[in-house]
Amino acid sequence: MDYRTYIAEKINVEGMSAGEIRELLMTPPDPKMGDFCLPCFKLAKTLRKPPQAIAESLCGQIAADRVIASCEAVSGYLNVRLNKAEAVKDLLNEILSAGDDYGKSDIGKGKTVCIDYSSINIAKPFHIGHLSTTVLGGALYRIFKSLGYRTVGINHLGDYGTQFGKLIVALKRWGDTVDLSGKDFIRNIQKIYVRFHQEAEKDPALEDEARMWFKKIEDHDPEATKIFEWLKAETLKEADKIYELLDVHFDSYNGESFYNDKMAPVLKTLEEKGLLVESQGAKIVDLSAYDMPPCLLVKADGASLYATRDIAAAIYRKQTYDFDKCLYVVAYQQNLHFKQLFKVLELMGYDWAKDLEHIAFGMVSLEDGQSMSTRKGVVVYLEDVINKCIEKALGIIAEKNPDLENKEEVAKQVGVGAVIFSALQSSRIKDIVFSYDRVLNFDGETGPYVQYTYARCNSVAGRAAFEPEKVTAEELKEEEFALASLLGTFPQIVQDAAERREPFYITRLVTEVAKAYNKFYYECRILGEAEGVMQRRLGLTRAAMQVLRSGLALLGIRTVDKM
Ligand code: ARG
Repeated sequence: MDYRTYIAEKINVEGMSAGEIRELLMTPPDPKMGDFCLPCFKLAKTLRKPPQAIAESLCGQIAADRVIASCEAVSGYLNVRLNKAEAVKDLLNEILSAGDDYGKSDIGKGKTVCIDYSSINIAKPFHIGHLSTTVLGGALYRIFKSLGYRTVGINHLGDYGTQFGKLIVALKRWGDTVDLSGKDFIRNIQKIYVRFHQEAEKDPALEDEARMWFKKIEDHDPEATKIFEWLKAETLKEADKIYELLDVHFDSYNGESFYNDKMAPVLKTLEEKGLLVESQGAKIVDLSAYDMPPCLLVKADGASLYATRDIAAAIYRKQTYDFDKCLYVVAYQQNLHFKQLFKVLELMGYDWAKDLEHIAFGMVSLEDGQSMSTRKGVVVYLEDVINKCIEKALGIIAEKNPDLENKEEVAKQVGVGAVIFSALQSSRIKDIVFSYDRVLNFDGETGPYVQYTYARCNSVAGRAAFEPEKVTAEELKEEEFALASLLGTFPQIVQDAAERREPFYITRLVTEVAKAYNKFYYECRILGEAEGVMQRRLGLTRAAMQVLRSGLALLGIRTVDKM
């Protein structure tokens, strides 16, 4: 039970939903005034009554019950006091009996959400710039799933383009100068790819050769296809290691090349509708009426573009999955691309174009100034960042807790958790400056801090048997109620995170729960208290564990029992 929701549902204000009233409920500055208050001056304008009169009439609506003790109208505020001890008991009961189902719901039943995320490029580095799309998409996927939606995770691979012709030429000429058998596949492929460009400056014939190989790929020439498929398989093999670490999975790997044969009908429709116009030999959709540059769909040489493939992909997804929403988790640099894409689909007459959403996010850079620019040749591989975090975590753990068993496994979860947490810590549109020291600070607002708190709860819970029927209401402390109030908001927070497509709501909640638990842990004795009080505090510990574990799992972070 979310106490705010509970109270909000008892208050009827014309023209306002319980959710809107919930938003207005605050914690009074002085606890003497009550546990929650509604500032009625915020309603005075719409209701055209003085705040105090509103507070009085709302107060009349609220009857005391097991959870609500009393209410009062004071200087335009509606103050509500809870039977805190009963409220905490009820909540414990609710969380502990729901177990892993706490926070889940079926509000999405019968609805489908497609999520396009990670969408890496074949034979290119999986760099730190892909961190956000990968973990944001992964989190949204789990969040929607936990709310009962059918979710379809799509890795829209960048597996089409003239660069593959160049790669084949490079492989044929210099393939044996690098080791392509092992873990540095991408790095070594990149070396000969760079070499291609250097050599092509001196010998333009290489470009012609590359064009020929690219054409062969398009024409399904067996040799070209074989090399191309091998590049794809090796890239995904490397990527899968990262996906495994981040607990990210996909239902489809249909990338750009999948749409090779699906663009002609799209172009035909566009032509029939008079939307496709010639411009300097190319074919475009004019979007000047919408204050946008034209959307280029066919180049003068007949080649299709990124946008052409995305139009075909959206139509394919609608036909295949009949989605209610299709989300594209892609950096804000592509804002214009998606605005154009959605507009073209709308102009084509697809009413579902309104269900397409660009879930934009900011840039990630490293604190030491290294950017993720591939152009400048500075590439920060995501795998390196994760491994460095795991290594540093191992150092910290070995120092703090030298006797810990399975240190390596713990360090892996802590290191990975630190990276994921940092990427999901703020509103997604914010740019992120990544710092190893900050993300691994065990005392800061970090993944390790939350995981550490979970391990602390686990150790407390293991010290005495929990007997729920013995929980009593006596001697409830403020810290207990504060913790319980937070735990009660979890289901609503998961829904808010889905609705706003903002996993950081959950990151923020688990951080607050960890802080509230630690405060409770220092202020409230557990073992050695009267049986009923001890049982309640053990129950709160277990309930906190439940919310931390479920919340972290939604983010893709695993908990460890000892740390
Ligand atoms: N591969 C693209 C990139 O790295 C992202 C693709 C995003 N998805 C899409 N349907 N356009 O920039």
